[in-house]
Amino acid sequence: MTNMTTSLTEKLDYIWGTYNVPDKYVNARFDNYFPSCIEQEAARKTCFNYARNSKDIFHRGKGLFLQGPVGTGKTHLAVATLRAIVENHIDSFGCMSSDLPIYGQKEYSGYTCSMISTVELLNIVRLSYSGKKQQANHLLRRARICEVIILDDIGAEKSSDWVEELLYSLIDLRYRMQRATILTSNCDLTELEASLGERIISRIFEMCSGVKLDGEDYRKKI
Ligand SMILES: Nc1ncnc2c1ncn2[C@@H]1O[C@H](COP(=O)(O)OP(=O)(O)OP(=O)(O)O)[C@@H](O)[C@H]1O
Ligand SMILES: [Mg+2]
Repeated sequence: MTNMTTSLTEKLDYIWGTYNVPDKYVNARFDNYFPSCIEQEAARKTCFNYARNSKDIFHRGKGLFLQGPVGTGKTHLAVATLRAIVENHIDSFGCMSSDLPIYGQKEYSGYTCSMISTVELLNIVRLSYSGKKQQANHLLRRARICEVIILDDIGAEKSSDWVEELLYSLIDLRYRMQRATILTSNCDLTELEASLGERIISRIFEMCSGVKLDGEDYRKKI
């Protein structure tokens, strides 16, 4: 029994380390998110329930759209949700093959996840046109093929036809393949529709349950 528990913890630690979650959020969980208003309490509950029932939900490509003002915990809750999904279904999750070291580590196969900053993705793809393509290909591959991703801060980038096209091709692929996407944004769907176009927003509308955040900027409170 102890061996079993140890090997599951070992697996969780290892695969979680391959999901591209930045250090700042790597320990974000539901139990260290302290709601300070009704909206935050409700948001935490919705995310918690999503993670609890996640096997059914993410199989059908259903995700979440966390929207609200700066510093209200959207990214924290998105990571906490991803962590809970993986913990709740640890048998089903693994790491991406390209992340496997050649020597010394076990190979874990299964569903894969990634955290993707939208602004970073666009910057890296943009830079790849003038050279290093490997990093952009790697990030785009993760964004496309992982069964569950967080697409953080959509709408923060300056929009253009190119941005619209790249994000459309990503969202549309995930929509067609029924892969779950957890989005966070400061913009509501009307604002996003104005900057990214109705085809992206129509798909997000069907793919995601809305989670509205509100309250003060937690960063300023600290
Ligand atoms: N209610 C909360 N309880 C505990 N920590 C919180 C809470 N809200 C936010 N935080 C912490 O505050 C910091 C900012 O939160 P986070 O980045 O999730 O906000 P955000 O809504 O995504 O902001 P932005 O719109 O700027 O992306 C993080 O370190 C996060 O862990
Ligand atoms: Mg954020």
